Amino acid sequence: MEKTLVLIKPDALADGHSGDIIKRYEAEGFKLVALKLMRMTRSIAAKHYAEHIGRPYYDGLVEFMTSAPLIAMVLEGENVIARVREINGATNPANAAEGTIRKLYARDNTKNAVHASDRPSSAAREIAIFFSELEQF
Ligand code: PPS
Repeated sequence: MEKTLVLIKPDALADGHSGDIIKRYEAEGFKLVALKLMRMTRSIAAKHYAEHIGRPYYDGLVEFMTSAPLIAMVLEGENVIARVREINGATNPANAAEGTIRKLYARDNTKNAVHASDRPSSAAREIAIFFSELEQF
């Protein structure tokens, strides 16, 4: 069964949308197999966003993601990586489809409510950054 890493970003957590976001994933049939409330450190951010280092938005992204707590979780299910990316919607909320999480809750390209892994290799890499084997059920 496929797994993906999802982050409820600091904006959505502070705005009180975590419950609705988790409910949405569960309603789509995905199973929560790991979850924690945590603060992203700069060292975790550098690993997690390694492929974005050097991009013009990188420093602002790390600044924001380390500024306040977030929720990290692992979801499991059939085709969960692609399906969660669909449910989340486009990175830029201006391009996000109606009914997607980002259309509902995101403000801009950085404060965009959620992160989800984009392919199986990223999911395996990202899950290992946030969770030990013992923390996954
Ligand atoms: S894209 O559009 O396919 O490159 O987006 P993606 O690879 O999914 O994620 C890019 C992450 O960087 C954050 N970010 C931005 N992306 C694009 N443009 C700008 N200006 C920008 N600013 C910040 C974006 O929120 C993605 O963060 P995560 O946590 O991966 O969703």
